[in-house]
Amino acid sequence: MKPKYLKPAIFLACLLPVARLAWKAFRAALGANPIQVITFSTGTRTLVFLLVTLSITPLRRLSKLYWLIQYRRMLGLFAFFYGCLHFLTYLWLDQIFRPAQYL
Ligand code: HEM
Repeated sequence: MKPKYLKPAIFLACLLPVARLAWKAFRAALGANPIQVITFSTGTRTLVFLLVTLSITPLRRLSKLYWLIQYRRMLGLFAFFYGCLHFLTYLWLDQIFRPAQYL
């Protein structure tokens, strides 16, 4: 059995964390330390997507839901996407845009 609209639904659901973060940033609602919030949020998402992606193969073997393989690449790419955001947040927002440290 392969649910028809599951893939686009999962795709949109995977974008929710970054959309929520962008919306909060746009409204300046990320609290007193926005860089820390963005780093922690993207770091946690990276870890979650990595674990979900790595659990697909054992899960499909145990459950015999072989169609789960179709979602592994997309979830892995989202892990990479959030990992890039996490790394860029550290590199760009946390380090490079702090000119005071070079004085
Ligand atoms: C697969 C790669 C990575 C994963 C899964 C990951 C995951 C995480 C997680 C789960 C947190 C803590 C979030 C929390 O406490 O709520 C975190 C924090 C952090 N990560 Fe990563 N991370 C990765 C790679 C990196 C890289 C490459 C850098 C930068 C070179 C980086 C920089 C940081 C920093 C600066 C923090 C905040 C630490 C703190 O203030 O306590 N991470 N990361």
